[in-house]
Formats: sequence, C-alpha cells, structure tokens
Amino acid sequence: MSTITSSAFSLVIFGATGNLAQLKLLPALYHLSEEGLFPEHIQIIGVGRKPMSHDAFQAYTRELLHHPQKRFIQPVKKTFVDKLVSTMRYVAGDIHDPSLYTALHQELSSHTKCTNKLYYLATYPDLYQTIFEQLEQAGLNSQQCGWTRVVIEKPLGTDFETARALNKTLARYYQEDQIFRLDHYLGRETLQNILTFRFGNGLFEPLMHRNYIDHIQVTAAEDFGIGLRGGYYDHVGALKDIGQNHVLQMITLATMNPPTSFSNEAVTRRRIELLEELVPEPSSVVFGQYEGYVKESGIEAHSRTDTFFAFKTHINNDRFNKVPIYVRGGKSLARTVTEVAIVFTTAGKRLFDHVEGGVSPNMLIYRVQPNEGIVWRFVSKKPGPGLKLQDEYMQFCYKQDSLFHHDPYLTLLVDMFQGDQTFFIDAPEVEAQWKFIDNLTAAKHTLYSYKPGSWGPSAADKLIQADGRSWIEPSTDFCAR
Ligand SMILES: NC(=O)c1ccc[n+]([C@@H]2O[C@H](COP(=O)([O-])OP(=O)(O)OC[C@H]3O[C@@H](n4cnc5c(N)ncnc54)[C@H](OP(=O)(O)O)[C@@H]3O)[C@@H](O)[C@H]2O)c1
Repeated sequence: MSTITSSAFSLVIFGATGNLAQLKLLPALYHLSEEGLFPEHIQIIGVGRKPMSHDAFQAYTRELLHHPQKRFIQPVKKTFVDKLVSTMRYVAGDIHDPSLYTALHQELSSHTKCTNKLYYLATYPDLYQTIFEQLEQAGLNSQQCGWTRVVIEKPLGTDFETARALNKTLARYYQEDQIFRLDHYLGRETLQNILTFRFGNGLFEPLMHRNYIDHIQVTAAEDFGIGLRGGYYDHVGALKDIGQNHVLQMITLATMNPPTSFSNEAVTRRRIELLEELVPEPSSVVFGQYEGYVKESGIEAHSRTDTFFAFKTHINNDRFNKVPIYVRGGKSLARTVTEVAIVFTTAGKRLFDHVEGGVSPNMLIYRVQPNEGIVWRFVSKKPGPGLKLQDEYMQFCYKQDSLFHHDPYLTLLVDMFQGDQTFFIDAPEVEAQWKFIDNLTAAKHTLYSYKPGSWGPSAADKLIQADGRSWIEPSTDFCAR
C-alpha cells in the first residue's frame, strides 16, 4: 500500500477510552504505524468524559499497547509506539456540552489552519445525533478547509425503521460519500478475497449457477457464550448481532453478480441487488436459547433473547432460482467456525455410488475462521489396490501472521483515510439487510432450548432434513496449522 495522503489529517475518536477503542482502534493504529501506513501530518484526538491531560492519554495508550489483550501480538516495538503516541492529543468533556466542541475546535486548529477530519464515533448510538449537531454548530462539519468524514459501526439501527431514521439523521448533516458505515467483516481478508477469487479467476464462476449447485450452507458458530456482554446482547440477540450484518455479507459476496468494475459504486450496487433478490422464508426460521443463558450476568430472568438462529432462504434471480441457502449461527455451539460452503450436485454419483467411500458432493468452502482459506473438496481414488474413494481438499490457506497484520480495522482505516467506500455499507444496503431480517424476527413465536456444546435445537435439523439434506459438519481437515 502506498502513502495515504500528504495533507494535514485529524482523526477524532469519540469514545477513545472505551472498549472498542481499546480492543480494535488503538491496536490497529499501532499496526498502521508499524507498517509505515500512517498518513503524513496526522494528529489523533481522543475524546472522552474522563479528565486526562495529553500526556496522560499518551501514557494510557502506551500502557494499553504494552499490556494488550490476548489477541494482540507481543512485543510491540517502542519506535512505533513512540511514533503513534507522539501524534496523540486528548479533549475531555461530555458529548452534550458545547464547550467540548470549542475545545476540539481549538485542538484541531492548533494542528494546522486547514485539516482533513475523520470523526470516528466509538461511542453509543443514542449520542450520534448530538455529536453531529454539535459538530455542525461548532463549524466542524464544514468541508471548506479539507474534507470531513464520519465513521459509525454496529449497531446500525435495530430494525428497518430505526436504520432508516439513522440514515435520515446522517443525511441531514453529511453526503453519502462522507459516511462510512463499518461492518468489520467487510474488512476481513477472507471476505474480500471471495470477490477476487470469484471474479479474478475464470474457473469456478461459471459453476456458480443453479445447474451445478445443489445448495449452499452458511455457518457462523461460536463455542462460547455471551461472557460479559450480557447487558448489550440481551437487547439484541444472535440474529441481529451477527445475522443482519456478518451473515448477510457472506451470502452477498459469495453469490452477487459480477460488478461492471471493481469500484465502490459497482460493487455496492451488486451487493444491494443481491440483498433485494434474497427471499426471506419466515416459516423456516428457528430460534434457540442455550440452557443456562438466563443465569448469565446481565440477563433478565425471563429473557426470550435468541442465542441461536437457523433459516432457509433463496435468491430470486435467474442464476440461483430455487437453490436453497441454509443458514445457522449463534453461541455456545459445538465449535467456533464461520464459513460458506457451496455444495455442488453429484454428477458422478451413478458411476461410483457402489464403490467403498461413496461419493460426496464437491464443495467449495470459503472458511472465514478458523483454518482460514478457500478449499475445494473433491473425490479421489484412495492409493492402493482396488477402487476405493476418499475426500481430498485442494486448498489455499492463509498464514496466521499475514492475517493478523491485515486486521480488518487496519484495512478499513486505510480505506477511510483514502475515501474508498467499497467495503463499507451504504444507506440502501443497510435498509435492505434490515428488511430481510425484520421478516424473520416477526416470525419469532417459539424459542427452543438447546444444550451448550451442541449444534443447536433439533428443530434446526428438521428444517434441513425436511428437504432431504443435512447440516455439514465443518471440516477440521484443511488449513490446519
Ligand atoms: N466493544 C466492541 O468491541 C464493539 C464492537 C463493535 C461495535 N461496538 C459499538 O461501539 C460503541 C461503543 O462501545 P464500547 O464497547 O466501546 O463502549 P464503552 O466501553 O462503554 O465506551 C464508551 C465510550 O464512550 C464515551 N462516552 C460515553 N458517554 C459519553 C458522553 N456523554 N460524553 C463523552 N464521552 C462519552 C466513554 O468515555 P468515558 O469512559 O470517558 O466516559 C467511552 O470512551 C457501541 O455502540 C458498541 O455497540 C463496540
């Protein structure tokens, strides 16, 4: 990646002392520093209520990077930490208080007379409107002197109506090309590569057609519960937490039609088209809750929040018409695994179905995590005398360290700095996602209980068995380290 920009640039993080900043943003900024991807003349301004001097904020960041959470690579290098913290300033105040914005204005102008501004809202959605309004009143939304961009991330609404209301609020203050709605899944190498794999190679794309595909399965499972996220999770549930965003993004990237070019407009248009063609089947949806959920910290005693969902859908276009897509995801399941598996028809079945080993269908698997890679499952002769068959995998596997350094937040920060919205969500897209999900939520009548460590309630098995199919046990046989 090349130098990002040579003009003055200010990144303002509202909520700089919060969890999101600690876990994702500050580590990603460190990696930008280490990889030499920092924009020149950058200043980073943290905003929070906690009173802190600039020096204290720098010391806080140093401490955080040197004593990071489990997933942060050790050790960080002092030179790059120094480089990062030397750009950091802090403004303390309440988001509702106009004097915060006066102080912010002063801080921005002290950097340089004119600066590009990126406002990262790493704070609660109910504060967004106040922030936009106060920035406006303080003259800080102006683009007369450098561009202004704003970043928000999930939750992007809680249903279609709230998402639309949020879009309207945003539109009152900003043009669509200034708004970066972030779903970190779209910054994952494993997801971005789906488009490259599909449209950069001629081999598999012609097979992405109802003539060759029996069905598609999407899994987004975690083998752990809600941990300390109870207060948040109990108001959201599995379908809204990961279904509305991550799962729909995976389906979209794996099945959208080829864009006319690899530009933001063309790629986003295809994603939206696909979402609009994706048909919800509310009668198929299964919601579950793991046993013991209501005893978790922060959960109401009679909570009916889903920690599991499964549903069937299909795409109403000529290419995929009638190809079923089965989706399941949630928490406290048998394994942590996220993947899209495209299961092809078993054309060779008649020739080999009497042979030991049987004939499994060919599968193309986009494995998002763990054992990240793209694999093609095929049938092969078992070496040795006689004819016996076995499954084999042709595989492309990511190296762990290369994935880490391309942490989605790092990738997406670079895109924000450069103004590239290809892997961000625009207003119609988020509304189309919610329209689909609202149809399923409205069908939440029964909540099945399931055992932690299982693959969810048996009703989910019945959903797919009704079509004469079964869930794929995600394989551990490929891309193992
Ligand atoms: N945590 C994650 O991994 C994650 C991932 C994706 C999305 N999100 C979303 O990101 C948002 C923030 O989540 P979080 O987990 O970081 O929350 P958090 O840990 O509670 O942090 C909230 C931040 O906002 C600041 N803040 C709150 N009220 C304020 C006010 N009135 N004036 C000034 N600053 C104020 C806090 O500053 P003080 O501490 O100084 O008060 C703190 O820095 C949420 O919408 C969440 O859904 C979080």
